[in-house]
Amino acid sequence: MSSGNKTVIAFDLYGTLLSTESIAKELATHFGDEKAQSVAGLWRRFQLEYTWRMNSMGIYKPFSDITNTSLRHALDELSLSLSDPDISALMKAYDSLGTFPDVAPGLKALASDPSIDAYVFSNGTDAMVSSSVNQSPSLSTHASVFKALVTVEEVKAYKPHPNVYTHLAEKVGKSKAGGMGDIWLVSGNPFDIVGARAVGMQAAWIDRAGGHHGEGGWTDKLGELASGGPTVIVKGVDEALNEIQKRTKGEGGKSRAGAGLNNEAAAMGPG
Ligand code: LAC
Repeated sequence: MSSGNKTVIAFDLYGTLLSTESIAKELATHFGDEKAQSVAGLWRRFQLEYTWRMNSMGIYKPFSDITNTSLRHALDELSLSLSDPDISALMKAYDSLGTFPDVAPGLKALASDPSIDAYVFSNGTDAMVSSSVNQSPSLSTHASVFKALVTVEEVKAYKPHPNVYTHLAEKVGKSKAGGMGDIWLVSGNPFDIVGARAVGMQAAWIDRAGGHHGEGGWTDKLGELASGGPTVIVKGVDEALNEIQKRTKGEGGKSRAGAGLNNEAAAMGPG
């Protein structure tokens, strides 16, 4: 699945293309709206924490197992419980997550740009990611945009372990010197952005919460201790595509990516 000289965009899946918040609706049928929000938030937090703890411990279990155990952790923490069939139903809900509103226009525009190859790049297992992409009512209609679905399953480590990003580069034919800079990660997850930048990729962070002036904004400081924060900050997938197109084919061609990166890094302080 080599992408040769093309620009590669690797889309993070959960929290970037697909909204895990929509699981809160399913949870609300058990606990009501307010508690469901708490469970959904804590579930997501523990799900990610477990991946980082496993990376540190040097062990790997599939993301589907992590998703299941982290849900049970979140329920325990909030002194709630669910039957096994209810937990299975929630896990199934991962197969029909909804997309964010900016995703469809972005992927539509991408379909008509032959100079960019798009991939999904996720912590999920092959089975989970393939179901999520192909069964999500709102994402499945765009599934043909993706050249392949790349997961961490072969690597047996999770983002932001560098091996995971190196694996992506190998899969898309960008592992030669300088190739990393042709890959753009588009992600709503700051830890993923910092991880990609640490190995030399470009990274567009989707800040849906607040755009540039609202409550959102880049607050993660780990980039200061690594290789910096996002190359560019955008409000959605559609804007991410515009910015990447500008930087990769605008005046001065690819050198613009480097310029953008320095400007952005300067605007965001050291690192
Ligand atoms: C993923 C997680 C980070 O899809 O959301 O890889």
